[in-house]
Amino acid sequence: MKKLNIGIPEKNAQAIAKRLNGLLANQYRLYTKTLKFHWNIEGPFFGPLHALFKDNYEQLFTMIDTIAERVRALGIVSIGTLSEFGKQGNIKEEPGKNPKDQAMIALLLEGHELVIRQIRDEIDYSAKMGDLGTNNMLCDMIEQQEKMAWMLRAHLTK
Ligand SMILES: [Fe+2]
Repeated sequence: MKKLNIGIPEKNAQAIAKRLNGLLANQYRLYTKTLKFHWNIEGPFFGPLHALFKDNYEQLFTMIDTIAERVRALGIVSIGTLSEFGKQGNIKEEPGKNPKDQAMIALLLEGHELVIRQIRDEIDYSAKMGDLGTNNMLCDMIEQQEKMAWMLRAHLTK
């Protein structure tokens, strides 16, 4: 494909995009975790939590697509396999376990907060690199993600 000529040195654009692939991995892992809990939630709050988790995974899916397409716009290939998401992400999974509803919420919140800190780092990095497009995308994303985190946090009884 033709080289980028967007006012950011190509090696900087690629460095940013590589880091965005790392964010993509964690958002994908959080998406998967949220789906699993949407499917397996039990208890008296099944209805509202099943719906809340659905709302969250739909938002995460949109974010995943936005990040992957930004990686492309910066000139490299976006990752997109489960093994890459596994290698490049560090959101924890609990295979073989089905936590209680409050524990599910706490685990999801922990994941969102990890991602929020990661986005904050990438906001600083993209600003330093003069990549306003990525910076703007991430500033919108952090606000949306902090809102999801607030709503999960508000469900916790302790
Ligand atoms: Fe569903």
